[in-house]
Amino acid sequence: MSKDKLWGGRFTQPTNKFVEEFTASIDFDKRLYHQDIRGSIAHARMLGKQRIIPMEDVEKIVHGLQEILDQIEAGKFDFSISLEDIHMNIESRLSAKIGEAGKRLHTGRSRNDQVALDIRLYLRDELVEISAYLDLLVDSLLNQAEKNIDVIMPGYTHLQTAQPILFAHHMLAYVEMFKRDKARMEDCLKRTNVLPLGAGALAGTTFPIDREHVAELLDFPEVTRNSLDSVSDRDFALEFLAHASILMMHLSRFSEELILWSTSEFKFIDLSDGFCTGSSIMPQKKNPDVPELVRGKTGRVYGNLMALLTVMKSLPLAYNKDMQEDKEPLFDTIDTVKGSLKIFADMIREMQVNTDTMRNAAAKGFSTATDVADYLVRKGMPFRDAHEVVGKSVAYCIANKKDLPELSIEEWKGFSPMIDTDIYEAITLEASVNARRATGGTSLEGVKREIARVRAGK
Ligand code: ARG
Repeated sequence: MSKDKLWGGRFTQPTNKFVEEFTASIDFDKRLYHQDIRGSIAHARMLGKQRIIPMEDVEKIVHGLQEILDQIEAGKFDFSISLEDIHMNIESRLSAKIGEAGKRLHTGRSRNDQVALDIRLYLRDELVEISAYLDLLVDSLLNQAEKNIDVIMPGYTHLQTAQPILFAHHMLAYVEMFKRDKARMEDCLKRTNVLPLGAGALAGTTFPIDREHVAELLDFPEVTRNSLDSVSDRDFALEFLAHASILMMHLSRFSEELILWSTSEFKFIDLSDGFCTGSSIMPQKKNPDVPELVRGKTGRVYGNLMALLTVMKSLPLAYNKDMQEDKEPLFDTIDTVKGSLKIFADMIREMQVNTDTMRNAAAKGFSTATDVADYLVRKGMPFRDAHEVVGKSVAYCIANKKDLPELSIEEWKGFSPMIDTDIYEAITLEASVNARRATGGTSLEGVKREIARVRAGK
């Protein structure tokens, strides 16, 4: 019958076999084993300190749990589907090992507050790890920026050549995004790092527990303040999934640029062979699989956010079994984000920049047209008029297959008598870039200042 079930008391019929499989979470929640054991040890110690269970039992429980931990880590623990989840697999093994004392562990606790605790313990470590991966990627980007500090490339709007920029400035744009991602992860940690244990099934517990003591043992700076909310809150997981979605959106935009830049049409960069694959039929191919896959995986991370938001919508208080569906999207997102960040950090570090190709591209497309307009403004012409004059000179260049720097001084003067020979030095790529000196602009001086600021951890 249901005698192997920890909740079998009120049942007379065994669980339907397929229901057992269908409702079990052990296949995916076994990855919480460490957190589950750590939480149980803290709970047992508190029960002992409060004299809710005898101290000898606490010692047996702690010892037993430590043995189970070793067994799991050595791959010698048989997880059973009929025991449903990680919590009951461990608790049932503990009782089998140490008898009576093991059966006292669950005093004043429910799986509802237990699972909330386990996920919070799990996620808070992952948040710290993801922040470290973000640091690694930022470091890779800074290295590329430093290595190619004076490389000029075209900056785009609408994917049309706009103005020349430093390649390093482009890398620093991603640095800003990933720094914000890190700040969001750190912020999410504040809401994750709160102890829910002690909420019981939903209403609290009749035993004189000391939640603050458990919080101290488990390094939680605070405890939750409402038992119903404690067992039904997954906001911290949703926040993480939302932040992860934004992070993946950044990686996906970056991926798109890397894919574009490594085409034979652009040829701005070469990804190293180790991060590309070939084609089984076209011998010439070197495909940017890694950025493509990261771009593709962004879809699952968005999907995971939508999945959990949808699970949570309309759930009445407090715990509902629906919430067991929180784990797969959460774990999948954690794995995907960590994998993507790690592979990007390495790939960017090894990326080769084709300096000349970038520079030549930056010189095309009348990228310094704005600089001519600004030049005229400095000579006293209103900006709107200057815009018109330069527009005409660009049209002339197109009709005569010329570039702006190739116009003779006579031709220039034909567009405006205000133009003098100093126009030539005003519209070099360097002059264009370095004129943009205000904070956040692409000048060499500004970019160096920003690199130093980020390097200094600001
Ligand atoms: N496996 C469950 C989950 O992941 C644990 C909590 C179950 N609680 C319950 N009352 N069935 O959510």
